[in-house]
Amino acid sequence: MTKQRENQRENWSARSGFILAAIGSAVGLGNIWRFPYVTYENGGGAFLIPYLIALFTAGLPLLFLDYAIGHKYRGAPPTAYKRVAKPMESVGWWQVMVTLAIGVYYASVLSWAGSYIFLSWGQKWGEDTEAFFFNTYLQTGEGLAFGFVPHLFFGLLVVWAVTMFILYGGIKKGVEVANKIFIPLLIVLFTILVIQALRLPGATIGLDALFTPNWAAMANYKVWLAAYGHIFFSLSVGFGIMLTYASYLKPKSNVTGSGVVVGLANSSFELLAGIGVFAALGFMAQSAGVEFKEVVSGGIGLAFIAFPKLISSLGAGADLFGFLFFTSLVVAGITSMVSILQVPISAFQDKLGWSRKKSVTIIAGGSAVVSILLFSTHSAIKFVDIIDHFANNIGIVFGALLSIVMITWFKRSKLPELEQHVNAISSIQLGQGWRFMMTVVTPLTLLVAFVLSLIALITTGYGDYPVFMQLIFGWGIVLMFILGALALSRLKDRQ
Ligand code: ALA
Repeated sequence: MTKQRENQRENWSARSGFILAAIGSAVGLGNIWRFPYVTYENGGGAFLIPYLIALFTAGLPLLFLDYAIGHKYRGAPPTAYKRVAKPMESVGWWQVMVTLAIGVYYASVLSWAGSYIFLSWGQKWGEDTEAFFFNTYLQTGEGLAFGFVPHLFFGLLVVWAVTMFILYGGIKKGVEVANKIFIPLLIVLFTILVIQALRLPGATIGLDALFTPNWAAMANYKVWLAAYGHIFFSLSVGFGIMLTYASYLKPKSNVTGSGVVVGLANSSFELLAGIGVFAALGFMAQSAGVEFKEVVSGGIGLAFIAFPKLISSLGAGADLFGFLFFTSLVVAGITSMVSILQVPISAFQDKLGWSRKKSVTIIAGGSAVVSILLFSTHSAIKFVDIIDHFANNIGIVFGALLSIVMITWFKRSKLPELEQHVNAISSIQLGQGWRFMMTVVTPLTLLVAFVLSLIALITTGYGDYPVFMQLIFGWGIVLMFILGALALSRLKDRQ
């Protein structure tokens, strides 16, 4: 790497800017929209054990590895991995493709949350929140329906415009400034929300449901898969985001100390979200006089069906509660969205010598077009669900597995080198424990997670979707990852 290029690379203005941005990336829709229901569906309180094990055996060690590689080799995944070992460039492009896939559907969920800020004013969803969400708002059609839904189009347009505006600003003036505004805002909004939720009558019913362990669930491999899958998504590790953010750190930066702060902040926020969401659902069960399990719903339904219903039942406080909840979702999501897109933008800048402006215009602009075309249709929710599942369970897990296996099993000299690099500048020292996690525990758990997901997808498929839809939007996306990884790594470097 030439000195000149080294000097050209953007930098965070201070370590605090990087930490805030990394927290902004980690804390996202995943924390509010995914964690509570993943926990509930996978054994409630007992899920916290696999979750914590996943955090300490894979999440944090991998976060340190991402930081070490990004910081030492100063590049987005393709360039950084290529500097580790030439054939690894394609692994970097695989990760870039995964972020592109996640970016296009993440924008869609974010735009729904944005619309719901307005819909919550006066609870425009009426009595039947489920029918409103699917029929009136998303206008979901039968099978594969491509008709155009104008309000979804406008929502997406706004999300992409805001995301691109922040990205055009660059690392210091765009990403860093946005996080400095949004993270404190999120903390204030969300804390008020959780306090409000805990004061509702019946809150304890929800907390009991969340924290009462179902130990039998722990014997189910799917629970472990869910824990590992969730940790990667939630911490933004293993698909290039943290690696890219670390590449903009100044040479002397405490990377492990920052990693621990980010990891703990993310899990604390996640737990807080679980408590807030479940306390509110407990209230709903009590006021409707039904069992708790009848009010809790999985996935997207939690945010867009159960929560609106709950908000409606709050009476005088409904408008404020709705505003707090959906604004929190948007604020948390937008900083993650920016971090997701930063990966491909940075990758193309590195590879083709593009300016930031050009890369944002082509890459984010191109993603925006695809995203708007796919998600302003009557099939938006189906695409979100299928792409989310394949991008997480195959895309993230396989990309993380490949990168880690190549570094720790094939280029063995690299791990001690990375360890030395980190230890020379960081407060928390890496040692045998980290090397053990990296060479044995993390790759093996990733391998098992990947093989089991693959078997499940091949034998039973995903959800109730018709096979052709799974082939196009699930396996098709995987094929795109493979082709992208192979083709882009063959491009000549233009800088
Ligand atoms: N880490 C981000 C989230 O949790 C992607 O939503």
